[in-house]
Amino acid sequence: MGVLIGVTNRGLGVACGLAAAALVIQRIFRERRDVTGRHTAQCITILGAQWGDEGKGKLVDLLAGRADVVARFNGGANAGHTLVVDGKKYAFHLLPCGMLRANTVNVIGNGAVVHVPTLFDELAQLGADGDSLPKLVISSRAHVLLDSHKAIDGMLEAEKGGQSLGTTKRGIGPAYASKANRNGLRFCDLMGDDANLVAKLRALREFQALHYPGASPATLREGDAELNQLRLFRARLAKFGVVKDTVTYVKAALDAGKTVLAEGANAAMLDLDFGTYPFVTSSATTAGGVCTGLGVPPSRVDCVIGVVKAYATRVGAGPFPTELDCDVGAGNHLQEVGHERGTTTGRKRRCGWIDAPLLRYSHALNGYDSLNLTKLDVLTGLETIRVGVEYTVRGKTLPPAYMPPDLDELGDVEVVYEDFPGWTEDISKCASFEDLPANARTYVRALEAAVGCPISYVGVGPGRDDMFVMPGVH
Ligand code: GDP
Ligand code: IMO
Ligand code: MG
Repeated sequence: MGVLIGVTNRGLGVACGLAAAALVIQRIFRERRDVTGRHTAQCITILGAQWGDEGKGKLVDLLAGRADVVARFNGGANAGHTLVVDGKKYAFHLLPCGMLRANTVNVIGNGAVVHVPTLFDELAQLGADGDSLPKLVISSRAHVLLDSHKAIDGMLEAEKGGQSLGTTKRGIGPAYASKANRNGLRFCDLMGDDANLVAKLRALREFQALHYPGASPATLREGDAELNQLRLFRARLAKFGVVKDTVTYVKAALDAGKTVLAEGANAAMLDLDFGTYPFVTSSATTAGGVCTGLGVPPSRVDCVIGVVKAYATRVGAGPFPTELDCDVGAGNHLQEVGHERGTTTGRKRRCGWIDAPLLRYSHALNGYDSLNLTKLDVLTGLETIRVGVEYTVRGKTLPPAYMPPDLDELGDVEVVYEDFPGWTEDISKCASFEDLPANARTYVRALEAAVGCPISYVGVGPGRDDMFVMPGVH
C-alpha cells in the first residue's frame, strides 16, 4: 500500500541550493524506485523540530487519511496536539492523532507513559464511550503512569521554586524515573494476575513513600480508590483486547505492506539526551525514539518529516536564543495572532524568531527527508521577518549544526539575523506555492537554504485542509 508522502533527501548535503531542491527530490524518488521497487514510503515518522507545538498533530491527521496505523512512541499526556476538522477543534494528549480517521488503527507504543483515567477521559471526549474503545492498541510494555507520579512531579517543581523547569505536571519525569528504577508498573502487569498487580503497586507506593514523603500516596490497602479504578479500566481494556504486544503488531502491519505513521510528541529540543538539558522532557523525542519506543528497526523507517513552525515558541523554562519580548512588537504579534497558548496547560507560549542553527542541529539529529513549515499565515502583517542564521560566541561563529550542550555556553551565544521583508496579503486561502506573495516565497526558500532541507508541506491555517504541498512533491 504505502502513502505518497512527499520528498526524501537521503544523502542530501548540508546546504541545498534551493533552485535545485525540486531536482534533488525527483532524483531521489527515482533512486528509491530503482532500489526498493516501491514508489512510496511505508513507515513515516513525524517529529517536532523545535520546542514543541509546531503543529505535528495536524500533519499526522492529514496523512492518517491515507495510512493504516498511527503510533505514538514517546511521552504521555504532556503532549497537546490540536486538530481542527470541519471547524471543530479536538485536543489530543495521549491518543494518537489518527483517531478521527475511520480506517486507522491507533497504537500507543512501549515508549509511552499512560495515565489510564486520562486516556479514558480523552476517549469520552471523542464521543467514544468506554465500551467502544475503537481502533486502539496499547503496548503491553508501555508504563502505567500513576496519580503518585503526578503528585511527585508537582512536589519536585514546587521544591525548585524559582528554578522550576515548568513541567506540565502530568507526572512524566517521575513515571520515566520509575521505569529507569525498574520498579514501574507496565500494562502487562495491569492486565495480568490481580495479586501480581497489587504486589507491584504496593511495592512502588512503598518506594515512593520512602523517597518522596512529601508527595507519596497512602500505603496500599484493600479498597484503595486508584487500585479499584485501575481494575475497572482493566476490565474494559480486556473486553476489547486493547493491550497487545505491539512489536509483533506493527511488524505484521509493515510486513503486510500497510502504512505506519509514527507520531512524535514533544520535540527535538526537549529530548532527554539532545535537548536543552535539564529543561527537557524525560523521553526520546528524536528519530531514535521510534526504534526504542515502538520496536521498529531503523532500516524500516523510510521517511522522517520534521515539523517546523515559521517562527519559534517554547512553553516552560529554559534557554531560547531568539526569544522576543511578547508584550510588544513582533513578539506580541506572534503570540496573539498565533494564539500561542499551551494546549495542555493553557500557559502563554514564549515566542521568538525562527532559529536556523537550532534547526540545523535538529536536522543533524533526525535526518529529515523534508520539512512541514507551519503557521506561515501568522507572519502576515509583520513589516520585517527575521531569521536567526548563525550563532556566535565572542565574535566567533559556531560550527553549523553545533548546539552548545552546556547552558552557560548557550547563554553566551549571540544570534546573527538576516532580515526579510514581510507581506500584508492574506495567505490563508493559498493552495499552492505560486499563490503566495513574492516575499513569502522568498522567506520559504530562504529557510530551506538556511536549514539545508527541502520543505514539502506549508501550513497556512489551523484547518485540516489549510496546507499545500510544494512544487516537485508528489
Ligand atoms: P503540536 O503539539 O505540534 O501538535 O501542535 P499544537 O497543536 O500544540 O499547536 C499548534 C497550534 O497551531 C494548534 O492550535 C493548531 O491548530 C495550529 N496550527 C497548526 N498549523 C497551523 C497553520 O499552518 N496555521 C495556523 N494559523 N495555525 C496552525
Ligand atoms: P507537544 O507534543 C511544548 C515541555 C514543558 C516543560 C518541559 C518538561 O504538544 O509538542 P514535562 O511535563 O514533559 O516533564 O515538561 O517540556 N513540554 C512541551 N512543550 N509542547 C509539548 O508537547 C511539550 N511536552 C513537554 O512545557 O518545559
Ligand atoms: Mg502541542
